[in-house]
Amino acid sequence: MHNSPCDAASIVIAPSILAADPCDLGSAVASLEGSSAKRLHVDIMDGRFVPNITFGFDTVRRLHALTALPLELHLMIVEPERHLERFAACGAAGLTVHAEASPHLHRTLQTIRELGCAAGAAVNPGTPVTALFEVTELLDCALVMTVNPGFGGQQFIHSMLRKIERLRQHFTDCSRTTDIEVDGGITAATAADAVAAGATTLVAGTSVFHHPDGAAAGVRELEACITSSVKKHS
Ligand code: DX5
Ligand code: ZN
Repeated sequence: MHNSPCDAASIVIAPSILAADPCDLGSAVASLEGSSAKRLHVDIMDGRFVPNITFGFDTVRRLHALTALPLELHLMIVEPERHLERFAACGAAGLTVHAEASPHLHRTLQTIRELGCAAGAAVNPGTPVTALFEVTELLDCALVMTVNPGFGGQQFIHSMLRKIERLRQHFTDCSRTTDIEVDGGITAATAADAVAAGATTLVAGTSVFHHPDGAAAGVRELEACITSSVKKHS
């Protein structure tokens, strides 16, 4: 199928803070301590590119002060290029823009790299994954949306697995091991399929922050699913 580094230990879980209590982000971040989460995913929504509105610069700055986890900002905003410098100054380690919102995607990714951040580009479920092919060499992270962006707690769109496979094959053909991130509806029931298709980072909101035994248990459960599935297939 694909030649991704399909070793369970190399899969990154990035909890999405969108699913936490917005009035108590400090406790949410603290609840990840001691877990193997490697990055914190922060969904920035502007009420224009998507119907919802979430966090601004000050929240990103506070989160950066509260956690040692690198912050990856998923920018679901129009004209993302206008705000890159400020988000970088607030402590972003990675900035991901949407291909649909960024007509000059090549230039925008160059700018992100010049700011010293990891450069990411995302595609909505209705956007062909080939939108990312022309910027392959500038991508640190390719984000495949497995729900329509805007809200947490939606159902994983299974037909997106083919898109992940196609993207992984493309990177393999280009001799690249670019991170493929999957965002939306990642649960114990879908995580292994996403990894088998070639994903290397799983964003998870609801299944981590709404886990009955706490966020660290949510991360552990996803990891366990991935480990058992990788073992089964190796
Ligand atoms: C959706 C966001 C996601 C969201 C995922 O637009 O980009 O990051 O937090 O939430 P879950 O894991 O609940 O689908
Ligand atoms: Zn997201």
